Amino acid sequence: MRWFIPEGLEPTEMDSRILYWQERGKLVPTRELIRTKEQIEGIRLAGVLNTAVLDCVQEHIHEGMSTLEIDRLVYDYTVSHGGIPAPLHYEGFPASCCTSIDDVVCHGIPSAEEILEEGDIINVDCTTILNGYYADASRMFVIGHTTPEKQHLVDVAWECLKIGEKVCSQPYVFVGDLGNAISNHAHKNGYTVVRDLCGHGVGVHFHEEPDVEHYGRPGTGMLLVPGMTFTIEPMINAGDWMVCGDEEDPTEWIVLTEDGSPSAQWEHTFLMTENGVEILSH
Ligand code: MF3
Ligand code: CO
Ligand code: CO
Repeated sequence: MRWFIPEGLEPTEMDSRILYWQERGKLVPTRELIRTKEQIEGIRLAGVLNTAVLDCVQEHIHEGMSTLEIDRLVYDYTVSHGGIPAPLHYEGFPASCCTSIDDVVCHGIPSAEEILEEGDIINVDCTTILNGYYADASRMFVIGHTTPEKQHLVDVAWECLKIGEKVCSQPYVFVGDLGNAISNHAHKNGYTVVRDLCGHGVGVHFHEEPDVEHYGRPGTGMLLVPGMTFTIEPMINAGDWMVCGDEEDPTEWIVLTEDGSPSAQWEHTFLMTENGVEILSH
């Protein structure tokens, strides 16, 4: 649906900016993607709880615990604070969070048999529903000390997220602007960017428009305007960018690097404002 100005309303600054780019063939948001004040407040509160869930994980994660114990922490903390873990039963996902160790790119499934070991790098990805609103974030945790190679990967993946955030320090940038900056930084460090999975609009639903690809050309992808809420969540591989499924995973959720190299990811939920992005969950 093309952007239009509702009858009887004076075009705002935002309307004219959006119309300008639409006329030049760019992908612009629909009205639904621009949150109302009430929606922003709801997503903000979901973000506060989601960040607190990750803080709780950070406080308790340790060598020797199982990833199922992480899942229990996430479930108990979320539910006892009035929230719902969005992953649970989402399109057949069987747990309350994703726990992705080493060569697991994302959507790792918590398990009683999977014990955290010294040197593991693990992504814990939590999404919380509060009063119907969603926030989504993930962090990397290093169990004890790891190899310099894996530590560097974790650090560069963080830098990639922060570079994406920096590109969004003003509105009316394109998703391709941040994707380009992120992939440049990954490649400069000898790493690759996963192409099969991307960030996304979030807030009213779990996964919405726009697709936030972490690679691409400047000026491509959707225009990011004030009031949009979305994630940036680059998945950075030490080896090749190709991913595959796990043959032993009946849910078909787990995503692995095809070459077995380690992968790292950090994710925040952002609100675009007139002055650039604000972090709603981290
Ligand atoms: N939280 C993930 C994301 O960043 C999605 C996980 S879907 C699940 O988009 F079902 F695996 F939880
Ligand atoms: Co997530
Ligand atoms: Co996400």
